[in-house]
Amino acid sequence: MTDIQAFLQQAFSAAIERALGTGFAGTDPVVRCANDSTHGDWQANFAMSLAKRAGRPPRAIAEAVVAAVELGGIASSVEVAGPGFVNIRLTDAFLETMMAELVADQRCGVSIAAHRDIVAIDYSAPNVAKEMHVGHIRSTIIGDALSRVLEFLGHQVLRRNHLGDWGTQFGMLIEHVVELGKTSGQHHDIGDLNALYRESKARFDLDPDFAERARHRVVALQAGEPDTVGFWKQLIVESKKHFGKIYAQLGVRLADEDYFGESFYNSMLAPVMDELVAAGVAVESEGAVCVFPPGFKGRDGEPVPLIVRKGDGGYGYDATDLAALRHRIHDLKATRLIYVVGAPQKQHFDMIFAAGKMAGWLKDGISAEHVPFGSILGEDGKPFKTRAGDNVKLTDLIDEALRRARTIVTEKSPSLAETEKDGIASAIGIGAIKYVDLCNDRIKDYVFSWDRMLAFEGNTAPYLQNAYVRIQGIFRKAAEAGVSIGAAAIRLGTAEERALAMQMLKLGDVLDQVSRSLEPHRLCTWLYDLASIFHGFYEKCPVMNAENAAIKASRLALCREVGRCLQLGLSLLGIATIDQM
Ligand code: ARG
Repeated sequence: MTDIQAFLQQAFSAAIERALGTGFAGTDPVVRCANDSTHGDWQANFAMSLAKRAGRPPRAIAEAVVAAVELGGIASSVEVAGPGFVNIRLTDAFLETMMAELVADQRCGVSIAAHRDIVAIDYSAPNVAKEMHVGHIRSTIIGDALSRVLEFLGHQVLRRNHLGDWGTQFGMLIEHVVELGKTSGQHHDIGDLNALYRESKARFDLDPDFAERARHRVVALQAGEPDTVGFWKQLIVESKKHFGKIYAQLGVRLADEDYFGESFYNSMLAPVMDELVAAGVAVESEGAVCVFPPGFKGRDGEPVPLIVRKGDGGYGYDATDLAALRHRIHDLKATRLIYVVGAPQKQHFDMIFAAGKMAGWLKDGISAEHVPFGSILGEDGKPFKTRAGDNVKLTDLIDEALRRARTIVTEKSPSLAETEKDGIASAIGIGAIKYVDLCNDRIKDYVFSWDRMLAFEGNTAPYLQNAYVRIQGIFRKAAEAGVSIGAAAIRLGTAEERALAMQMLKLGDVLDQVSRSLEPHRLCTWLYDLASIFHGFYEKCPVMNAENAAIKASRLALCREVGRCLQLGLSLLGIATIDQM
């Protein structure tokens, strides 16, 4: 649909210039898909904003532009409504031609982006020796969906899993394990490490001598002392095993080669500091080396720094992100940097980007975006926790989703083979977890409710998967009747068929919006609307019992395209389709 939009955009821009004079050349005619198609398929909303400049009422402007516009016969009506909205209705013949193009296109009519970026996208980023919990789920799922969409649009996507594998907490943990005599010859799985980590944190907070030894341990680690480094590596291997298992279960595309943990930037920290100091961007302050990006003040009104090097000579989270920013721009040549990290880190990233500008790394043509998201709440409206008040572990959440989905499948289709039930349960359970995280405006908090996310009605993954299943059911009936779904042309004889075509033809436009706004819920809404329109079609327009063979063939082809669009859309969210359930 990007193409229809581009065409209308150009046609109206030219008409504005013709109607209002050359002073208005290059005006954006603000062409958008209509949300509600009762008055038209597209809208052009330029008139209100031009009224002042043109010195004429918006309605008169809209009428003059409509009189001047040349649409080459693709529109059946172009009308001015209300104070000056322009509604455009496309002819059925034109929509049928566009559908023929969609049928012939593997990409369901979605074109490759005109400007292709090298995108470095930072997401998931769990911490070593800590089990992944619900706090990481949103970054992981949103980041994965955005990566898939950007990649599909032809951008080069570099996935960066910024593993928390460096810093004071490792001094704490390693020192604790060493003092317990548990470093060598013992296997610690992630559960043990989680527990050891908590113990070490408790000691660190209570016992100043231990805290001192832990600090020495960090120095030993950063200086490459072999035993310390050896054990640290063991921690990483064990943690990655745990994360890898979760990514595989979730179907999240993060592989071993996508880990660029904090330690990866270690050798860059000192040179980055030197560069910042030489450029006058970083300055000494109370023994530390800091950057004070203008405009960032703490509660006390004092400027807040990014700490490049701490007073004790160590480097921390800020320094690592500065080095990562520079690396992604200078070495990876990224033109778009995306950080899918919770809202509480907004100020951190605003400051990192401001420092990047001061250093001259972030210049015109390169964008850096923090993609924040809200929290997951329990049904009581408070942060989602276990009954005991702990963070909900991701493995427990996944297990429960699979278990619940398995029950649903067994109820619905008791006669399926067990392995089939497993496959379907995994698609439904994992799909539900992901979809519920993607379908709302990401900045908002959402309430985690198993019953709601696994419902077959409403804006849920099972509802969408069910629409796909229904289509496969039609094809099974067709096969039984010996009817093949051929190359029949799609004819849009009813309002429902027309609405399905219009919706499918919007996919390119919707993905373009997702790639700009980094808001996956726009794709979810499109999928939900498509499935809802399809259900309406299914009720009103018989397929196998259509009035005649030509209509039957056209509707079968239409169903096939709806199936393809649903599958593509869901796959871009990382959600599987199934043939039966
Ligand atoms: N590991 C961090 C955390 O759990 C998130 C890291 C985000 N990425 C970054 N480049 N700082 O909070």
